[in-house]
Amino acid sequence: MIAKVANIKSEVEAYQFDENQKAETFRLLYLSKKGIITELFEEFKMAPVEEKRTLGGVLNGLKQLAEAKYQEQKEKEAENNVGDLMAHDITLPVYQTNEGALHPLRIVEDRLLEIFYSLGFDLSEGPEIEDDYHNFGALNFAEDHPARDMQDTFFISEHVLRTHTSSVQVREMEKGKLPLRLVMPGRVYRNEAVSSRSNCFFHQIEGLYIDKGVSFADLKQTLYYFVQQFFGEGTKVRFRSSYFPFTEPSAEMDIWAGVETEENRRLTKGTGWLEVLGCGMVHPNVLKSCDIDPSFYTGFAFGMGIDRITMLKYGITDIRDLFVNDVRMLKQFAGI
Ligand code: PHE
Repeated sequence: MIAKVANIKSEVEAYQFDENQKAETFRLLYLSKKGIITELFEEFKMAPVEEKRTLGGVLNGLKQLAEAKYQEQKEKEAENNVGDLMAHDITLPVYQTNEGALHPLRIVEDRLLEIFYSLGFDLSEGPEIEDDYHNFGALNFAEDHPARDMQDTFFISEHVLRTHTSSVQVREMEKGKLPLRLVMPGRVYRNEAVSSRSNCFFHQIEGLYIDKGVSFADLKQTLYYFVQQFFGEGTKVRFRSSYFPFTEPSAEMDIWAGVETEENRRLTKGTGWLEVLGCGMVHPNVLKSCDIDPSFYTGFAFGMGIDRITMLKYGITDIRDLFVNDVRMLKQFAGI
């Protein structure tokens, strides 16, 4: 065995590193678990005792030699790598890449949801293809209500494309777990002629809070807080009475944009007020449809158009720009 070790020692000494024979090739050949030197140590265990005495020292010497050779080569290779990098001009600007961007609707939706999450609202989503009951019936729409007309609603045989996210309110109330404090974003559809101001689908966020003792004051304060967070501290709001079949009383909320600029006069049709959302106290008939006793529970609901708020926020004047996915438009939102 002594002779064998001496042979391998001269082999290791003569080993030449080159393009194909790098430090790692060397390590695998001699020093790895199945490497030649490691196997010699296994053989050593079986050697006769008298041979072991000399052999031990020789073997250890061989191992140290191989390890030193490996380390030296490894360091050289590392230096070469740095050398290669330095051969390039690292001050050159990087290549232009196509950085992804969130869609402006997503940016606004995320921000809106975040504000309501901070008030303890949870997220829920419902189906876009609904039945008449969840979109209209349970929400106290009369049998002959004009919204049920073919002119306003897309029908798919027995089903409808939901015309608002209020249908998700019903799906949640039906589950029978109270209290409820939810925001429900999603796409809605209306059978309207497409123009710069209206599209056949758009997006809403619905809010719902049902518990014992929820009042109109809670609704006002919740929405007031939302406006201060989203549109800025000090933004003025007003509530105008309105009508929805599923809330009573109902209101629409406006924010004060002012009439100082041409843009504000155009957007507010000269009034200075911008309509932001519809809201109200959940109608007792709606609670009853969902097996909730209106003599114990009350609640408020609101619904706002994400598209409209996005257009206001970024000064987008044509709603269709939100849906054509022109990268020249979308790119502007990278990093926002
Ligand atoms: N669903 C109503 C709409 O689409 C908005 C709304 C939601 C109003 C909840 C009141 C309460 O216009």
